[in-house]
Amino acid sequence: MPDSPSLPSSAKAIRGAFLDFVGDPFYMAEPDCIRYIPDGLLVVENGKVQAFGAYEAVQQAYTHLETTTYTNNLILPGFIDLHVHYSQTEMIAAYGAQLLEWLNTYVFPTEAKFKDAEHARNIASFFLDELLRNGTTTALVLTTIFPTSVDILFEEAQRRNMRLIAGQVLMSRNAPEYLLNDAKTAYQQTREQIQRWHGKERLLYAITPRFAITSTDEELHLAGELKAEFPDVYVHTHLSENRQEVEYTAELFPNSKDYLNVYEQFGLVGDRSVFAHCVQLDDSAFQRLSEAGAAIAFCPTSNLFLGSGLFRLSQAKSEDYPVKVGLATDVGAGTSLSLLKTMSDAYKIMQLQGESLGAFKASYLATLGAAKALSLDDKLGNFEVGKEADFVVLDLQATPLMALRNSALEADSLNDIAEKIFGMMILGDDRAVRATYVAGALAFGEK
Ligand code: GUN
Ligand code: ZN
Repeated sequence: MPDSPSLPSSAKAIRGAFLDFVGDPFYMAEPDCIRYIPDGLLVVENGKVQAFGAYEAVQQAYTHLETTTYTNNLILPGFIDLHVHYSQTEMIAAYGAQLLEWLNTYVFPTEAKFKDAEHARNIASFFLDELLRNGTTTALVLTTIFPTSVDILFEEAQRRNMRLIAGQVLMSRNAPEYLLNDAKTAYQQTREQIQRWHGKERLLYAITPRFAITSTDEELHLAGELKAEFPDVYVHTHLSENRQEVEYTAELFPNSKDYLNVYEQFGLVGDRSVFAHCVQLDDSAFQRLSEAGAAIAFCPTSNLFLGSGLFRLSQAKSEDYPVKVGLATDVGAGTSLSLLKTMSDAYKIMQLQGESLGAFKASYLATLGAAKALSLDDKLGNFEVGKEADFVVLDLQATPLMALRNSALEADSLNDIAEKIFGMMILGDDRAVRATYVAGALAFGEK
């Protein structure tokens, strides 16, 4: 038997059933891109994956390690939420309006409250704990126009050691006075925040114009300058969500050939740009997103809730012009912080287009697919050795109905496990999350 390598006392092992992806199931045969290990061992050291594989094979080299065993559960890489507004947590489920009216009636007054640091702290703390309770370990987050609302979110994420990406929301027109900032001031504030937060521990920065409607040419120009000065920060915004929004954008930017072109003209479309929604997008825009290496945040619960429309996932994942896509909750337009519920609505959106979204593809979009969308697949998204050990332990029998539906847990084939995960993604939510680990440490739930 080989000797156990000497590992620091922080090293530990998790035993259980694991599932992750090593390739994209939209383009590859399932056996080539899915790893399902019914009895596996994950060895974690200093927050990273030290070893991973079948228990019998890995255990021999790590006989003395403290091991936590999860029986009758399924362990997945931590979920990634590719677009969510922490500042809208408290106004989730606001009745009766489509995008522009909904923003004016519910969102803007709620975001105004983030001028108050204590309020921002309470909500940031609540929001991040909710992410963890839902098995989400990384998120790309919108804040508000107030710099303290950004600093506080980053501080709270840092306290939890989460990998989080966020930025100050840029707004300089077409919103109430109390939620407008001067473009030059916002530029300076964003610049300072990039220097303060981007790359600090696990935190990263995103330049975040809210959407074209609320930014002047000057503001988008300055955003483009920042992106040119700091090329490895992200750009994060909304694109083509709602018909009225698209029409209004065309009026405001008569020299742009379409909505995406507004962002293109200001140098905001590249391989670290993430565009939420893209529901009302034509084929040419999909092609340009593909060529730029930009990513789309698919927000199913939000698109249904606001009646925005059906995202054309198949077009985005076409062979000819593949676009990187990840799933996103988009709370407060989204109706849940659970990526499981988000997968469930993604399935229904595809059904309404005469197509189906299988359990593996949906799980991919919430893990490795989203990591690729963020160009963070060298750090996140699966259990490859050296990656950050963020993962979620799921209970496929979490509720009486799920226990009935998934009564036999044994899964001998990929088809068996797909069938069980599908049951969980349609019926499950935060109740299915037994534990969440951040950088190898238990952040929510039970050992
Ligand atoms: N477009 C601009 N702002 C927002 C927002 O807060 N939520 C959604 N869903 N779309 C937007
Ligand atoms: Zn949004």
